[in-house]
Amino acid sequence: MNSNNKLISVKGRERPLSKKQKQAFLFLSKYKFNFSLLKDSDYYKKNKIFLEIGFGSGEIIFKEAKNNPNNIYIGIEYYRRGVAQLLKKIEDHNLKNIYIFHGDAHKFLEKLVVNCFDEVWLFFPDPWPKKRHEKRRFIQKETINKLNDVIKTKGKLYISSDDKGYISWTLSLFNQNDKFEWLAELQTDWERPHDGYYGSRYEEKGKKKNRKPYFLKFKKLN
Ligand SMILES: C[S@@+](CC[C@H](N)C(=O)[O-])C[C@H]1O[C@@H](n2cnc3c(N)ncnc32)[C@H](O)[C@@H]1O
Repeated sequence: MNSNNKLISVKGRERPLSKKQKQAFLFLSKYKFNFSLLKDSDYYKKNKIFLEIGFGSGEIIFKEAKNNPNNIYIGIEYYRRGVAQLLKKIEDHNLKNIYIFHGDAHKFLEKLVVNCFDEVWLFFPDPWPKKRHEKRRFIQKETINKLNDVIKTKGKLYISSDDKGYISWTLSLFNQNDKFEWLAELQTDWERPHDGYYGSRYEEKGKKKNRKPYFLKFKKLN
């Protein structure tokens, strides 16, 4: 993949920000993720670090960061509106353990060279259900290799979707990869999220339209 078609996993045009969202967006400089944070290996050996890719309006990462002040949370989101919504929540609650990368997650992953994450979450990525759009899906062979590079040994990767096609696609790509173990114990395992999962806004919207969510849980082996 070249750097031009990496951006194609992001869907559609963005609506302009409201006045309040514009104000909240100004806090980005305060909570912006800085790659130098992960240059120090002591830092990621001593701290538990969690990454959420495509956090939407940030409900999950916000609740996690608020309830676990000793962990570090890094959230990636392309859309300004979502970034502004999360920034407002962080600022209102004065959280000190959360950083935002505003931009394309592929670019973020490309820049990281260390296996520093205890968990990576990809909740309800844009499904791109049409066959001709498969290349736009976030999960690709190359992305799995990159995720392997940045997750700590025995670290977890959680992926969910309410698009069965996306789930099958993801499983077939992980089947071709020997670096992760699919943590499924029962046949119905993919109907259950990991323990402590809060649920996302996109998921709730889908449930109202009778779209059933599926959850894949992987562990990085070595
Ligand atoms: C369907 S929404 C789900 C949002 C959230 N995870 C949830 O469950 O409510 C997918 C989100 O991923 C973001 N996204 C998609 N591709 C991305 C990329 N390459 N880099 C950063 N964000 C991305 C989109 O902007 C969108 O907010």
